[in-house]
Amino acid sequence: MINKEIHIIVGSQMGSSEYVADQLSEVLVNKGYTCQVHEQPNLEHIPSSNVIWLLCTSTHGAGEFPDNLQEFMNSLNEKNNLDDLSYSVIGLGDTSYDNYNKAANDVDSLLKTKNAKQISQVLEIDAMDENLPEDIAIAWLPSWLSAISINEQ
Ligand SMILES: Cc1cc2nc3c(=O)[nH]c(=O)nc-3n(C[C@H](O)[C@H](O)[C@H](O)COP(=O)(O)O)c2cc1C
Repeated sequence: MINKEIHIIVGSQMGSSEYVADQLSEVLVNKGYTCQVHEQPNLEHIPSSNVIWLLCTSTHGAGEFPDNLQEFMNSLNEKNNLDDLSYSVIGLGDTSYDNYNKAANDVDSLLKTKNAKQISQVLEIDAMDENLPEDIAIAWLPSWLSAISINEQ
């Protein structure tokens, strides 16, 4: 098991992503990981070196970030190099919209351009899916944890 801190960064307008983040954090803490959820993320207060970020964001408007993540994204754009950071992204979206999960894919692309290390592909969760978003995320978690332990060796 890796002993890096996990920071779950939430982008949520109506609470679904926040709920998914809280559920994941509960499982991770029970497994013995050090995990912190940032519901109002401020880049100045979130370490980005030698830690793992799990961004959990919905998409709103016409493919935009939720309001609570806008400031964080502006600051992230200004960052130079994040090559000490490992990350993954979970997107909550809805396939009935044109820009399906665009915010999640945009932050994934941005982190790649900053040289952050992608642990796994974006997990795209569709509100049209019959399963609950938190159930999909919790079912995915073991594969993510194995990917971390392989990547961080
Ligand atoms: C006004 C509005 C705009 C939305 N726009 C998009 C969109 O462009 N792309 C997408 O994939 N989902 C879109 N969605 C769906 C939400 O991302 C989805 O319902 C998500 O589960 C909401 O999560 P949240 O409660 O954490 O904000 C939109 C939802 C609303 C209400």
